[in-house]
Amino acid sequence: MTNIAIMGFGTVGCGVADLLTDNRKRISASLSGDLCVKRILDLREFPQSRFASIITHDFKDILEDPDIASVAECVGGTTFAFDYTKKLLLAGKHVVTSNKDLVAAHGAELLAIAKEKNVNYFFEASVGGGIPILSPLHDDLAANNITEIYGILNGTTNFVLTNMSENGADFAIALSEAQHLGYAEANPSKDIDGIDTANKVSILSSLAFGKHVYPADIQTDGIRNVTRDDISIAESMGYRIKLIGRTLLEPDGSVYAYVAPHLVGASSELYGVNGVFNGIVVRGDYVGDVMFYGRGAGRYPTASAVVADIMEAYRYKEKRKELFWEDGAAVSDGSECESRWYVRTAEPCDASYFEEFDMISASCFMTGKMTNHNFRRLMDIFRKKYTVACAFRILD
Ligand code: HSE
Repeated sequence: MTNIAIMGFGTVGCGVADLLTDNRKRISASLSGDLCVKRILDLREFPQSRFASIITHDFKDILEDPDIASVAECVGGTTFAFDYTKKLLLAGKHVVTSNKDLVAAHGAELLAIAKEKNVNYFFEASVGGGIPILSPLHDDLAANNITEIYGILNGTTNFVLTNMSENGADFAIALSEAQHLGYAEANPSKDIDGIDTANKVSILSSLAFGKHVYPADIQTDGIRNVTRDDISIAESMGYRIKLIGRTLLEPDGSVYAYVAPHLVGASSELYGVNGVFNGIVVRGDYVGDVMFYGRGAGRYPTASAVVADIMEAYRYKEKRKELFWEDGAAVSDGSECESRWYVRTAEPCDASYFEEFDMISASCFMTGKMTNHNFRRLMDIFRKKYTVACAFRILD
């Protein structure tokens, strides 16, 4: 029998304990080996839980137990989780996690320790909730040069935007429902301000391009500027507003990555990705576009991905799986990247600063396709005359 520990008994940790226990037979049959939850670390007591007898408050009960081979880190954040993960990897234990903050901030360092100690550090659940994305990207698409990845990577904001659009829901009410359903971060501004999506873009970029792209290198805008008016205007033109994370490889090998609201047209694969669902498009030089779709947040979808990693760590317990990236990606500001834009101003405006444009209303227009360099240059001039309420890219 192989013993597992879980650190953190919140939304995800609970789901992992349930899944490992309820599907133990099926998991064991698949692995030809039995996995058992031996310890759960949390500061709180859980007297009503069926796992009450294995709760511990002492990290050493896991770190110093030679019978515990793999640990699911479901603590979250970058303080205790970082310290614990380093110690566990250094002690020769496999660690799996859904903690995107930690992987985005310290992935290169933790993967280097895992490599040195011949153990696995896996984080499938950190991107796309229950969607298998990192493993296919690393394994099944390994023969391809990945040139671009983009998608809806945050379930909470997609849930909020979908509810505002389909049900006319109020932003705050839709967000509190997402919190109630266990989709949102402990601090939901991480969802709303795009930080969670940037962490996921950081992980996807680092894995796809082999060098760590840090969240600070990713220009990040959230959905605070998206109003009900923008949603209605977009809909009247056949678009939906979605928060998109995107990363692409420039011809010189640098990485351009950003997070921003987009108007998504009906011809895009992402148009029909609604509610808590995520959709991620990976572009490879031989395979073309591959789309991954599924529930991007929630207790059990996320637990499904964490447990898949626990099982993979078991399969690779003798010789670690070569999942690795180095530090130090070169980043680009995307000057030559081209988009069309939707712009809304606080007052009626003259859009003729932009060579190609279509007025939607007196204070709202769409531009023709232009490079970021040109758009930024023209916006600097435009902003001297008008107050820009929002400027979103258009994805057709
Ligand atoms: N808060 C995140 C989301 C959880 O809504 O997508 C899953 O990473």
